[in-house]
Amino acid sequence: MERERERNVSYEIYQASLKFRTKRLESLEQSKILAKSEEVKPMWNGHGYTWYLIRSEMGFDNLGVSMFIEEVAPHKSNVMHRHFSEATVYILSGKGHTVLDEDTLEWKAGDAVFVPPMRWHQFFNDGDETVRYIGMGSERVMRSVGLYLVQDVTQVSPEEKPHFGKRASISVSTSPTEAGPREVKAEAGSQGVYEDDRASEKALIDKRLKSKVVAKGSDVNPRWDGHSWTHYMVDPRLGYNAYIYQIFIEDIPPNKSTAEHRHLYEEAVYVLEGKGHTIMNGKRYDWKAGDAMFIPPFWWHQHFNDDPNNRSRWLVQSNALLIRSLGYAPIEHRE
Ligand SMILES: [Fe+2]
Ligand SMILES: [Fe+2]
Repeated sequence: MERERERNVSYEIYQASLKFRTKRLESLEQSKILAKSEEVKPMWNGHGYTWYLIRSEMGFDNLGVSMFIEEVAPHKSNVMHRHFSEATVYILSGKGHTVLDEDTLEWKAGDAVFVPPMRWHQFFNDGDETVRYIGMGSERVMRSVGLYLVQDVTQVSPEEKPHFGKRASISVSTSPTEAGPREVKAEAGSQGVYEDDRASEKALIDKRLKSKVVAKGSDVNPRWDGHSWTHYMVDPRLGYNAYIYQIFIEDIPPNKSTAEHRHLYEEAVYVLEGKGHTIMNGKRYDWKAGDAMFIPPFWWHQHFNDDPNNRSRWLVQSNALLIRSLGYAPIEHRE
């Protein structure tokens, strides 16, 4: 009898998990795919306008990627802040600088700024033209693993305030620091795992502080795959402390198309130049410069540049790094 009941509970759990999978597939089927530039309404943020492009509140079923446009008015700045999420900002127009802890980084349209987790940062517009950038962050992924923190400079205690020239004060470490620095020795039988963990946490913080942070548009070398050019901007192999997103620019020549493919990661696309269409799960989506598109996980898709004379250029955020770190080879091509 007891056995029978246990079996029933298991059966219910099994049914519920099947239901979850079906629900996820159905909700992806219902997901918004395209945000047309003319339908996205701006919001005043104190230093310029913000347009949300790919957000779940707009009807997208995105769990990995997200995208928005933000402006900084001439000679203004946003508020200094920090967050657990890793973020990349791609500069669409204008020029300025970013204060990242004690560093100052200059940038202009076509550059990307990578902000490693938990580093204080503030963006300044140094010109007479409005600065406009695409922001791509990992809040969705962070929330799903229970990590969510965004702090602006007014919300921290005096000893935690950004202290330029003193990097240690802005690092968050899970190492036991209350007792001050102490020597850790491997005990017999401990296998050194604890010591290894502490050492690797320290190495992670060092890596975060040493991460490359500015990808100059002019320095990026494209790669041709037989269909289109890919310009990788942010990737750990290029010196960035990135674990979740690859950020790259896709360039499809006039009248060409990409291969038909699908992948376990999601993609958020912002069309920088050109016009064309995408066939995704049998449906056609027409896009043009200024539109944003969501590519759900494992949906077959193929992109076409419909302009006979001009290339089509996109900014792409993909959570491929995270998916690979979970042990998956995420991409599949159709001949
Ligand atoms: Fe930020
Ligand atoms: Fe793709």
